[in-house]
Amino acid sequence: DKGNHRHFMEKEIYEQPEIISHALSHYIDFASHTVKAQDTPIDFAKITGLAISACGTAYLSGLVGKYWFERYARLPVEIDVASEFRYRELPLSPTQAALFISQSGETADTLASLRYCKDEGLKIGAVVNVRESTIARESDAIFPILAGPEIGVASTKAFTCQLAVLAALSIGAGRARGTVTAGDEKAMVKHLSEMPRIMSRVLNDIQPQIEALSRDLSRFKDVLYLGRGTSFPLAMEGALKLKEISYIHAEGYAAGELKHGPIALIDEHMPVIVIAPHDRFFEKTVSNMQEVAARGGKIIFITDEKGAAASKLPTMATIVLPNVDEIISPMIFSLPIQLLAYHTAVFMGTDVDQPRNLAKSVTVE
Ligand code: M6R
Repeated sequence: DKGNHRHFMEKEIYEQPEIISHALSHYIDFASHTVKAQDTPIDFAKITGLAISACGTAYLSGLVGKYWFERYARLPVEIDVASEFRYRELPLSPTQAALFISQSGETADTLASLRYCKDEGLKIGAVVNVRESTIARESDAIFPILAGPEIGVASTKAFTCQLAVLAALSIGAGRARGTVTAGDEKAMVKHLSEMPRIMSRVLNDIQPQIEALSRDLSRFKDVLYLGRGTSFPLAMEGALKLKEISYIHAEGYAAGELKHGPIALIDEHMPVIVIAPHDRFFEKTVSNMQEVAARGGKIIFITDEKGAAASKLPTMATIVLPNVDEIISPMIFSLPIQLLAYHTAVFMGTDVDQPRNLAKSVTVE
């Protein structure tokens, strides 16, 4: 049931605040601002590394997770798309653990990667939406994302719920490993618990601007997304979402890679969407944006209040989000990229929930 929404995708975008709050309650204690201990066979305090594998959007949430596990838990992470991971003959050790991220829990390549890691003697964790799925069944530990049924082929709420779960797990791992202090844990969990309310406000505030902007975006054939740090996987997720449902060609790049190739494409026909909260990478990303502006590129700048005040570069549009802590910024910055893809596709009249050539669950390799 779509309720009063035109598409399941729209419904699923707007459900996120409520659903994330529910998902978080499984992982964090809202009263004490601590991460709940997960009683599983994976001992984050003792493992020497983490292997993560997944496909599509789930891979991109894993990539954000990699930044978090490395930074907060000081845990080295090996991550790859499952279709490569399964054939790489990656040397692994039973002192490591492996995480597989999958909304459906049935993705063939992800399952094959899981079986590879199992054969290598690693403990297996599944970050899944469908708890009765094959991937969940074959895992030692299930970390449910509790997003409820996701009908739209383009993943939205599963992505942000995966991020929320990975954020909580990385803070918990950091606590277990002594790399996150009790004070840091409290502060980060507090930010997570405030996130649903911020998401509601953002969805409400940015909708009219994004709907108007999507008309302009629909005129282009190619779009480049740029980001640094955790905004780099978001740039790739933005590009994936746009190409899946609007069929506009889009690429997501690490902002620092711009001058290693894609800058050759910059002209007035290819807008560049820059995802840049005012974090420790902001100045660097703005200097990349400057390079785009200097070549006549059109910029759609997705930033926060501090970032908007700090950059005076001319843009085609600037989408201003509230200033938020960096632990929640990937979830908050997901909202404009989801809405932009959604409204662009709606404007172009594509089949948003069932885009051509795509299946919700990819059970063949
Ligand atoms: O069910 P899974 O999470 O394993 O699916 C993985 C990908 O097929 C999926 O995320 C796909 O990329 C989506 N269509 C993205 O919107």
